[in-house]
Amino acid sequence: MFAGRRIVLGVTGGVAAYKAAYLARRFIELDAEVRTVMTPAAEQFIGAATFAALTGTNPVTDLFGGTDVSPHTTLAAWADLIVVAPTTAATLSKLAHGESSNALTATVLATRAPVVVAPAMHTEMWEHPATRENVAIIERFGYTVIPPESGALAGGDHGVGRLADPEMIVAVVDGILGTGDLEGEVVLVTAGGTRESIDPVRYIGNRSSGKMGNAVARSAVDRGARVILVSAGTAPSDLGGIQFVPVESAADMAEAAWTHAPQCTIAVMTAAVADFRPKEPRSDKLRRAEGLPDIDLEPTPDVLKGVHESDPRPYLVGFAAEVGSLDTAVDKAKRKGVDLLVANDVAIEGSGFGSDNNQVAMVTPLGDVEHLPLMPKADVATAIWDRVVEARRSTPRT
Ligand SMILES: Cc1cc2nc3c(=O)[nH]c(=O)nc-3n(C[C@H](O)[C@H](O)[C@H](O)COP(=O)(O)O)c2cc1C
Repeated sequence: MFAGRRIVLGVTGGVAAYKAAYLARRFIELDAEVRTVMTPAAEQFIGAATFAALTGTNPVTDLFGGTDVSPHTTLAAWADLIVVAPTTAATLSKLAHGESSNALTATVLATRAPVVVAPAMHTEMWEHPATRENVAIIERFGYTVIPPESGALAGGDHGVGRLADPEMIVAVVDGILGTGDLEGEVVLVTAGGTRESIDPVRYIGNRSSGKMGNAVARSAVDRGARVILVSAGTAPSDLGGIQFVPVESAADMAEAAWTHAPQCTIAVMTAAVADFRPKEPRSDKLRRAEGLPDIDLEPTPDVLKGVHESDPRPYLVGFAAEVGSLDTAVDKAKRKGVDLLVANDVAIEGSGFGSDNNQVAMVTPLGDVEHLPLMPKADVATAIWDRVVEARRSTPRT
């Protein structure tokens, strides 16, 4: 499960460093995003230019002096997984002791992502009690150690210590990335506020930015889903793993959402869709001199209703922007046929439209209401997926 997943490949100073180039190429072929971080010793064995050419991004080789003032924390936060291959005895020791004096070891220490370590060294180094101890320590941290194989070693020697077969390393990484709890799900997310044309320059719109939908889409990708994001808002800065479908009006959004819905197992409808649109948008610009225009309105297509009626129907999460009481949200959850309704009070200061934070309540069609505190939209997205995953564990997948 590599599509859109972000892999940091750490390369250390052993003879097997050249095999890391093959690994980088394989991850890219499998549609992962790859960034590399090299120790100074690694550069004695393979050039940074090789990884730059393979991955499209310059490897991080130093903590200081680059354009990023804190490259290790940037990489650490970006990674879905870090794999250090090959890992020298020296780097094993540093990882075991939290020693973070170079860009690679600092990145590993700074991450919350899973870490995979593939050691390669001479047999004597691998079998030394210090190395055995260091392996045991990093396994206690939860790192996955892929032991070296037996075979020909540098300098004509033979024994245990050769880097594990790169395809084995790919398979182990695949297994770890593939454990996301939305693995196998195809998720439709709608986002942003639709725009209904009055004339070529004016529209009826709303204050939705698309940030909530973007957070829901990113979180779903991170948990292993394939995501289709139909958006009338700003595109996410990182489109990794997301199929982005830009739309403008409610009609555009309905067409795109209804086309994709039958292929999706879950739909999260965060978009703020206009309820009404000008019946006859003007093809020429309205002029002040013409006086006050009469603009007749008509209802827009009900995007949520159409997704609800699609066959097969995805597990359906609706959003409701409310002001004040949530009474209408409870009613809406029952009426709209959703499995879960996320109601947000957009009148709360620092929450909702355009903000990075949101204060929501999860409402079920049975009328259960769970209020969540004001939190970043990324955390709201996590909370939504936690509930969806939990609900889908107790009901069969559609
Ligand atoms: C020719 C040569 C080959 C080496 N191969 C290995 C190796 O395969 N595994 C290992 O642990 N160290 C190997 N070393 C030693 C490491 O390069 C050395 O310990 C270095 O400090 C590792 O730094 P790093 O872990 O920060 O990359 C080799 C050294 C030389 C000179």
